[in-house]
Amino acid sequence: MTDARPTRRTFLKLTAAAGAAAGAVVVSGSGAAQTATDPARAGDLLLYQDGPSKGKPVKTADLKVGVAVWALAVDPKTKKPRDATKGGVVLVKLASGKVQASSQPNAAGDVVAYSSICTHQGCPTKEIGTLGMGKGHIICTCHGSIFDAGDNATVLGGPAPKRLPALPIKVDATGQVVAKAGFTGKVGPK
Ligand code: FES
Repeated sequence: MTDARPTRRTFLKLTAAAGAAAGAVVVSGSGAAQTATDPARAGDLLLYQDGPSKGKPVKTADLKVGVAVWALAVDPKTKKPRDATKGGVVLVKLASGKVQASSQPNAAGDVVAYSSICTHQGCPTKEIGTLGMGKGHIICTCHGSIFDAGDNATVLGGPAPKRLPALPIKVDATGQVVAKAGFTGKVGPK
């Protein structure tokens, strides 16, 4: 498995590169109102954010249990990040049976996806499993917030005031992970 972990330097570069999109309202295929600044939408491709596989699609066959990968939600038409600042996604393949009922509607089998932007002060979440391999914890190393990947990113510890928004995902015919809808909540801190 390649290490697709975003470095802080990369994150800052991505942040600096982010454009300020206009706030025009559009309507998705499901009829839900979306704005031009939504960091992810239904149908978006998930492409590796960093590492040797940068820019390549995330495929479920390449994921290993308990190893997180980081991706960006990319507009399938323009092939550009929907929002390089807030469109970061952390994906985790959990052990069989570890995806709880709270996460199942948004998961693709054993694979779950969440915003990778911490809800405390907006750092990129970076680690998983450092409190015990296989526990499925997403950890923000900035101030130590811990989220339960199998339970809808519930906050297990640290200063984060709320869970990470989930990104509902599905797997297309080629095995590639794509967004089934936008994030389930506001990305980042309040
Ligand atoms: S920004 Fe993540 S714990 Fe503070």
